[in-house]
Amino acid sequence: MDPTRDNPIIRFNTFWWGIGTFMIFAFLLAIIWAFAKRDTQTPEDVAGVARKEIRAEIDRAQAETLKSFDMEKAIPQVAAALASSKPAAVEKPEQVVPGSPTAQALSEAPAVDVTAIDAPAADPDAPIDPAVMEIGKAQYMLCGACHGQNGEGGPAGPPLAGSEWVTGPVSNLIRIQLRGLIGPITVKGVVYDQFPAGMLPMAYQTDEQIAGALTYVRNSFGNKASAVTPDQVKALRGEVGKPQLTEADLVKP
Ligand code: HEC
Repeated sequence: MDPTRDNPIIRFNTFWWGIGTFMIFAFLLAIIWAFAKRDTQTPEDVAGVARKEIRAEIDRAQAETLKSFDMEKAIPQVAAALASSKPAAVEKPEQVVPGSPTAQALSEAPAVDVTAIDAPAADPDAPIDPAVMEIGKAQYMLCGACHGQNGEGGPAGPPLAGSEWVTGPVSNLIRIQLRGLIGPITVKGVVYDQFPAGMLPMAYQTDEQIAGALTYVRNSFGNKASAVTPDQVKALRGEVGKPQLTEADLVKP
């Protein structure tokens, strides 16, 4: 070997040229890899990123609003406002003025016989009509505001998931829709008594809507029970206008 070609400067240069060439290749590979990876992104990946950004924005906005929102005060206020708003004209049973002769007559009306309605369904395992579940799902948007979108319960309503009332006698459920419910109620061994206005009547719903909503809650969130029919609701329409129910008015589940 020519001794003039083996000296520290040449070694130094060769070493750094080697490192440099390696770095250039590594850099090119990184660019190719990044491009290849970009091409393998599915539309779902792209949408996922957008969803995350939107979600983060919503979380930020909600956190901002909640700073000035006093949950403890707001819910009783809304409930009290609802409870004190009395209907003006008496045209429909659901507009009966409390204390009026009509209200008196209604409160003295004999208790309805619910044995037929609560009789076990002819075929308890009959499949549930998906169209009825769809109606119920739409109605449940409102229930979910108080009972939680998954029936888990919340600051404005007790749970429906796993509730013995929900899978229990059908007449209770229909009457709660038509008359509302107030006062302490025990659900799954817990006494709920923190709702100032209780649950208000929702008798404005059609028989089909009530049957749908009740069939839906009886067959969602892990619940399983027979369907409720519009005819069963119709049979109890005479309940509309009577005062809000209490737990004692209900058939034991
Ligand atoms: C404005 C809030 C609110 C809405 C809307 C609402 N509920 Fe309720 N619900 C309550 C409250 C509060 C109670 C408990 C009442 C009491 O204090 O006795 C209750 C009780 C119940 C109960 C009996 C207790 C239990 O947890 O099983 C059932 C069943 C029920 N609601 C079903 C429904 C269904 C079905 C809907 C929709 C069609 C609905 N509720 C809409 C507030 C609401």
